Amino acid sequence: MTTKPNHFLDLKDIPAADLRLIIDTAREWKEARRGWPKGKVDEGAVLAGYNLAMIFEKSSTRTRISFEVATRQLGAMPLILQGNSMQLGRGETTSDTAKVMSRYVDAIMIRANTHEAVLELAEEGTVPVINALTNRSHPCQLMADIMTIEEHRGPISGKKVAWVGDGNNVATSLIEAAVKFDFSLVLGCPDAFAPYDDVLSWAEAEGGDVRVVTNAEEAVWDADAVITDTWVSMGDDRTGSRVRALEPFQVNRELMSKAADDALFLHCLPAHRGEEVTNNVLDGPQSVVWDEAENRLHAQKAILAWCLGKL
Ligand code: CP
Ligand code: NVA
Repeated sequence: MTTKPNHFLDLKDIPAADLRLIIDTAREWKEARRGWPKGKVDEGAVLAGYNLAMIFEKSSTRTRISFEVATRQLGAMPLILQGNSMQLGRGETTSDTAKVMSRYVDAIMIRANTHEAVLELAEEGTVPVINALTNRSHPCQLMADIMTIEEHRGPISGKKVAWVGDGNNVATSLIEAAVKFDFSLVLGCPDAFAPYDDVLSWAEAEGGDVRVVTNAEEAVWDADAVITDTWVSMGDDRTGSRVRALEPFQVNRELMSKAADDALFLHCLPAHRGEEVTNNVLDGPQSVVWDEAENRLHAQKAILAWCLGKL
């Protein structure tokens, strides 16, 4: 590849029109496969003959399975690699790994301990790199979330979305999504667990409608969708003070009653039932978490096709 590949690193780096195309394609491809068996239709095997490597430095259920199935449904071959069983885990540099892998595969998806490793892989390799979660962001998740909200409530532009809890990696990508998809976002987070300053500054500079408050009720007031995530992400220490600071941000029925009457509830999963969300919300009528999980598959098929110049 001679030109810069289409990396999927962070939503802020991708033109809004491309993100829209990815969502619209994902919805179209989802519709084409509605029902069972799931393998009965293909999308023209747009990635036939391609090989996609997936490196996991952290645990995964949804990302691991949905990316593998996405790859197969598009006619490509997946290679699943555990970071700690590669020489990468014994100290081979990311740069050398990127150069070598680029000679074998057509794209690399990575779930990495550090965001810098993903950026370096993209910089030093010559094939598209997909960020499948780092300590800083989780852009693939947000594509599924936007798709889910739009499936249930129509265009997200102009809607009000609330985030409550830790200002973590998913929150970073949500802030970037608010700018790119033009919706209003209020994040309710304790002071000590606020989102990264630089992503908030970026959103402000881009004219985004993004606010951070320290009260959960204020955050969710009249929201069309309420989103939360674990209080202790992979790589974080579970401390008493962390949990105590986040306890007032639990999504329960009372908190949901402050949002719009038909507000949706989303969670990237895995959920810690009884901590950041109660069972009656997670399993309740406003919850769309299973559609959200399913949509990882459809959204990632479109992401893969976009990365390889096939959309
Ligand atoms: N939501 C998400 O990324 O789930 P996994 O950690 O199971 O991949
Ligand atoms: N914030 C969570 C997301 C898991 C999909 C974590 O990083 O562990």
